[in-house]
Amino acid sequence: MKVKKAIIPAAGLGTRFLPATKAMPKEMLPILDKPTIQYIVEEAVEAGIEDIIIVTGKHKRAIEDHFDNQKELEMNLEEKGKSDLLQSVKYSSNLANMFYVRQKEQKGLGHAIWTARQFIGNEPFAVLLGDDIVQADTPAIKQLMNQYETTGKSIIGVQQVNESETHRYGIVDPLDSSEGLFSVNSFVEKPQPGTAPSNLAIMGRYVLTPQIFDYLGRQEIGAGGEIQLTDAIEHLNSNDCVYAYDFEGERYDVGEKLGFVKTTIQFALNDKEMSKDIIDFIKSINFRTLKNK
Ligand code: UTP
Repeated sequence: MKVKKAIIPAAGLGTRFLPATKAMPKEMLPILDKPTIQYIVEEAVEAGIEDIIIVTGKHKRAIEDHFDNQKELEMNLEEKGKSDLLQSVKYSSNLANMFYVRQKEQKGLGHAIWTARQFIGNEPFAVLLGDDIVQADTPAIKQLMNQYETTGKSIIGVQQVNESETHRYGIVDPLDSSEGLFSVNSFVEKPQPGTAPSNLAIMGRYVLTPQIFDYLGRQEIGAGGEIQLTDAIEHLNSNDCVYAYDFEGERYDVGEKLGFVKTTIQFALNDKEMSKDIIDFIKSINFRTLKNK
């Protein structure tokens, strides 16, 4: 069965960006002129996903508005002959069939996925988290969909990280591997420094079979007092087989401040209109006089 639907969970509180995210969704913070969530939706669309459900919560209305028509704005841009801007505004309204469901309480990522179960029904589906933007020749989620099509099993996207960083991620304890595809002994959520079974970190891209809802439905409370997706995947792996796939692509961590700033600089350096000015600006900085260095 082909993967045609995707869930994008976006109901989190975004505490790492407070106070900016007090009244505004963190998913609407832009890298240059595009909200981070649009990069994620574009990846799904490029992979051939037709229907996308975004799990939202309080203070998240701006996400729905962003992917909706804005006729008044469109007319204004048309009258002023600003055709490039008009095109970019219309583009984000017509990317995919967008659906929304509210997670009434922030009970964790696993609970957010479970909230979208009726939309998914009995089909395999993709999950994309907004904390990482991935640039790749073949979209990261498409690479996972391809692996699903050959194995028929749930596929968890991973990438290798430095050993010093493993405590920040869910880590895979792998069994066998073949061309980047790993069978998995277990998944370990944020291991203590120095105890990680590998450096294969779970990266917010998943293709899951609908059996995952059987385990999410148990509403088991895990790490941090939240219903964890990783716990449900661990149960699924014990009863069926779940694979981890080391996907290719440049990953940009936009879920925390430092990664967000680095990504902004990198994207500005890649932008042909901005690149030269940014390079000139960086060269002009007198690093010796910086405060807090
Ligand atoms: P994060 O751990 O990044 O949480 O959640 P967050 O709220 O977005 O950010 P911080 O850590 O407070 O700064 C991972 C993903 O799961 C979603 C988030 O929106 C994010 O995409 N999520 C998390 C939910 O949709 N609901 C939840 O209850 C928790």
